Amino acid sequence: MNPLISKIAGCGSYLPQRVLTNDELATKVDTSDAWIVERTGIHQRHIAAEGEFTSDLAFKAAERALADAGLVAKDVDMIVVATTTPDNTFPSVATQVQAKLGLGNGAAFDVQAACSGFIYGLAVADNFVKAGQARTVLVIGAETMSRILDWKDRATCVLFGDGAGAVVLVAAENDLGNPGHSRTGNSEARGILSTHLHSDGSLADLLYVDGGPSTSQATGYLRMQGREVFRRAVVNLTDVVLETIAANGLTADDIDWVVPHQANKRILDGTARKLKLPPERIVVTIDRHANTSAASIPLALDVAVRDGRIKDGQLILMEAMGGGMTWGAGLVRW
Ligand code: UT7
Repeated sequence: MNPLISKIAGCGSYLPQRVLTNDELATKVDTSDAWIVERTGIHQRHIAAEGEFTSDLAFKAAERALADAGLVAKDVDMIVVATTTPDNTFPSVATQVQAKLGLGNGAAFDVQAACSGFIYGLAVADNFVKAGQARTVLVIGAETMSRILDWKDRATCVLFGDGAGAVVLVAAENDLGNPGHSRTGNSEARGILSTHLHSDGSLADLLYVDGGPSTSQATGYLRMQGREVFRRAVVNLTDVVLETIAANGLTADDIDWVVPHQANKRILDGTARKLKLPPERIVVTIDRHANTSAASIPLALDVAVRDGRIKDGQLILMEAMGGGMTWGAGLVRW
């Protein structure tokens, strides 16, 4: 039998109905549309309704991804949700999605790597597929960042939004050789070619939430040293992209689309410049979605698939950096 590879059979996303514009935000906190657009590229963000939780967003994105894949819930044998804003400390969002899908079998669990969560979730799911331990996996990034924002802190509250995105991975035989980690011509295979994960816990103070079940009664708020996170993001994202393309025997020129975590338009531009990637090959949704943490990559992926930019056979590179600090990348032949 040939080795297994994870193919992306479908994708879907969901954004809450309520749109919060920069101008509306400027009536609540000392900021302006001009500052937010110039420094971040953000024009608006979506905000979950009262009583609408991360699991609700995740479920809607999952339903759309399954429909796109032409599959039904009972085909799924594993659910991985990347989130840093779960409905509750436990149960996991993944098991809540499992229940909403009417499933009582298979495995479901959350992965927490802040804004890098989707890449981490994708890597975990891919390895289960390659090990033959799961055949159809829902990988979801879902967040209600609005619930952990200090709405009095203009340096952070203008940056984030709520949303969810999902992909369905299916196990397929890779008849082109060993998937990923090779320079020997596997890059023609369809599916996840490789994933690359990194973290440095000594940098935790740069971006964190100042609460949690073990340290305080309250959930807490997101705190960030923006300038330092920005500087490290450009360096680490450039490094992990170079690592990913080198591991597959490719160059930046071979990449059809970069689908990055959407933290700041200037981070996207700075990374693209360092990699000599033309800006028109970067999928940008930060203007409409803001930073939706673990949801931002699958949201952007879904946008670019549905508007026809991402096509069969193309090479898609995804990358992210977030609290922890964590960072990583994944390369997919669509
Ligand atoms: O997704 C996880 C990873 N997160 C990121 O990658 C975020 C990385 N960091 C960033 O995107 C940027 O650092 C920010 C957008 C957070 C901030 O942009 P900046 O260009 O680094 O601004 P700054 O923090 O250096 O602040 C510049 C000025 C300050 O005023 P003074 O001290 O120069 O008078 C801030 O007080 O801008 C002020 N400022 C604001 N002004 C209006 C900060 N936030 C705002 C605001 N509106 N919302």
